[in-house]
Parts: sequence; structure tokens; C-alpha cells
Amino acid sequence: MPALVLLGAQWGDEGKGKATDLLGGSVDYVVRYQGGNNAGHTVVVGDQKYALHLLPSGILSPGCTPVIGNGVVVDPSVLLSELSGLNERGVDTSKLLISGNAHIITPYNVTVDKVTERFLGKRKIGTTGRGIGPTYADKINRVGIRVQDLYDESILQQKVEAALDAKNQILTKLYNRRAIAADQVVEELLGYAEKIRPYVADTVLILNQALEDDKVVLFEGGQGTLLDIDHGTYPFVTSSNPTAGGACTGAGVGPTKISRVIGILKAYTTRVGSGPFPTELFDEDGEALRRIGGERGVTTGRDRRCGWFDAVIARYATRVNGLTDFFLTKLDVLTGWEEIPVCVAYEIDGKRVEELPYSQTDFHHAKPVYETLPGWSEDITSAKSFSDLPKNAQNYVKALEEMSGAPISAIGVGPGRDETIEINSFL
Ligand code: IMP
Repeated sequence: MPALVLLGAQWGDEGKGKATDLLGGSVDYVVRYQGGNNAGHTVVVGDQKYALHLLPSGILSPGCTPVIGNGVVVDPSVLLSELSGLNERGVDTSKLLISGNAHIITPYNVTVDKVTERFLGKRKIGTTGRGIGPTYADKINRVGIRVQDLYDESILQQKVEAALDAKNQILTKLYNRRAIAADQVVEELLGYAEKIRPYVADTVLILNQALEDDKVVLFEGGQGTLLDIDHGTYPFVTSSNPTAGGACTGAGVGPTKISRVIGILKAYTTRVGSGPFPTELFDEDGEALRRIGGERGVTTGRDRRCGWFDAVIARYATRVNGLTDFFLTKLDVLTGWEEIPVCVAYEIDGKRVEELPYSQTDFHHAKPVYETLPGWSEDITSAKSFSDLPKNAQNYVKALEEMSGAPISAIGVGPGRDETIEINSFL
């Protein structure tokens, strides 16, 4: 019953696509359990680079069944264009399964996301503008549209009208925008229905049966721990639960079924959008990390904010996710620095603090306390085992492991599929 959760241990963009893809060959199901097309995975297969936003990265592994779980929000137009883009490149997508309970990102959810951000001005969250937050808000408000609603026209009509009732008041009276016609939305959604139908399935039943049959199921988190709606840097977060518990609710499997929780951890830190980030760099080191690490959003094309590794964050991720392992990514990006600072604790109002403060105010005031580790200049991209790494790189990894509270079981030393050092097998 190997059920693995693979999730971001920081603010997302840790290189999850590479990790998922590495396991892809031996995994029977890859399941997305939250988020939507706000995620961005870059997967490199041979000389081909694939940017996926909504689809699970298992879609690129022929033996694997990709699953979009009930906890995901699905923009049907993005879904269909991502599928046809892959088909044009010869990728077979016919095995995809989509939960009938997944919620649909409607055109009005995208509109509301954009106008709300504009209205917030300086206080904006810096969302991806894809309608994610408003779709989850509709779900919680019980006015959401689910994939299964596409197959009952009269229910769909009623639900869209109900959802638009209040929204049109807000759009016209508060935001000074035009009202959205329910009929048009219904027509657009119905246009997607038959194209999506072949994929719609009872994914909860299928996944639980797969686990009974000893299949390997990988739950792939989008975004990252610090963007979690409950455990992240609220309100500068996404509107779902990327943390490990989200895999259970977002896919319909019980916590007793999960055997391993792997946190993807970048060898330094990045974040996009607004919100606190204690180790953020505003100097040439930050610029160099951005340039060498290619730190530009796959989904939004925005430059990522960059900073040194933060062990306080990593320890927090270990705790809230119950991590059993880390996959350390992008170690090669740090090659060439004579010394590498690592944040080991914070100073908050003159006091040293070892753990992430629960108070938002304290976290906003947190100043990083750095320890400096010696760097390395040798190219590490062809390293195949831990002992191939220069001594200082080995020590950097060991130091991070000790500070972060879980074993580092794999290390990414380059973007390619085979540029990974495996220390402990994940399966
Ligand atoms: P939303 O998910 O579009 O609502 O955006 C909320 C916050 O999460 C913003 O700060 C986004 O930049 C951030 N975010 C959403 N998806 C990702 C991701 O895949 N990687 C990194 N940040 C993300």
C-alpha cells in the first residue's frame, strides 16, 4: 500500500515536477489533490521541456494514470488546451481521470479574482489571477459548480444563476463592472462537457481500490507549505491545503493509508506574490540566485523573490506535514559562492527564536540569524552519488539535514531527469 505525498516545503516552486517525474516510472497513479492552474511544474524529459499548470506530472509517464482529485479546482478551457498541447507533441493523455466532485473555475471566478486584486491596491495578495481563490470561496459558500454539474443542464443553470445573483450585485455596484449573464456562462460550460466526459470518474473509489491492490500512488501537492490556507503566511497564501493533510481530503483517502511524506526543499528560498520572507535578498546575491536558478514563474512569468536557505521554515514544514524525507533541489545553483549564509533562527524584537512564530506580527518582524557555510566551485551537475560531491557541498547538505529535522533522501544537481543523486529510495 505505498502511498506517497510529495509537496513543497517552502513557498512553492521547489522543483516538484522533477521529483514527481523521477518517481513517475515506478508509480501507478499520480494525483493532484488541491490548487488548480496556479501551479507550474517544469518537467524535462530528454531534450523536451514541458510546462504543466493543471495536469499532474504523471501525464508524461506512459505507465502512469494521472488523476485530478476532488480537492482541485479545474478551469475547463485550460484543461482542454493543456491536453491538446500535449497531444500535439505526441503525449497520450487518454488515461487521465478527473473527479466529478472537483470544482470548476468559471469565467466569473476569474473576473472576481482580477477585480478584487485591483481593488485591494497596495494590500493585494499578488494572486496568479486564475480565479483560484474565488472558486474555493464559492465551494465553501456552497455556491460552487462541480464537474458533475456539467451533465445536468437544468441544475447547472440553477447553480450558475444562484452564484451570479450576489456576484453581479457586487460587480456592478461595488466594482463598477458589467453584470455577467448566466446564460452565456452556462452555454460556455456546456460546450466543454462532452470533451471532458471521457475523463470523469469516481476517483475516490478507484484510488482506494488501487491502494488495496498494492499499487503505488503518489499525491502531488501544488504550491507549498507556507502558502497553505491554514498553515501558511495568511493572508498571503493560496486558497487550499498543499500540506500533507490536504492529500487526504483532496483525494478521499484516509490518513492511515499514507506511508511517506516527502518535502521538496530548494537549497535556497524563493517566493512569488506578496507577503513576509525573512531571508529575502535585495542585492546582487539575490539577483544572481534569480539568474542562475532561472527563478521566473512557469505560470505567471513573474520574477521570483530570492533569498538564502531558511532552516526555521524547513523545520516548520517537517512538523506540519509529518515529513519522512526531503528532496533537496537546485544544489547546483549555489556552485561558485565562496561562502553561503543559512538562516538558523530569527531575531524578533531582540530575542532569538528557533521556531516559526505563530503570530503574524512577530513573523513580519523576524530578522534572520545567519550561520555561514563554506561554498564550493566545482561543477556538481554530473555527480551521481553523495560522495561525488565536493566536501563543502556534502557538508552544506548535511548541515541542512540536521537543521531541518528529516533525512535528505535525494538531491537535485541539475534540471535534467537524470541529474539527481538518490540517497534513500522513496519506494
Ligand atoms: P492564488 O493561488 O492565485 O490565489 O495566489 C495566492 C498566492 O499564492 C500568491 O502569492 C501566488 O503568487 C502564490 N502561488 C500560487 N500558486 C503558486 C505556485 O505554484 N508557486 C508559487 N506561488 C504560487
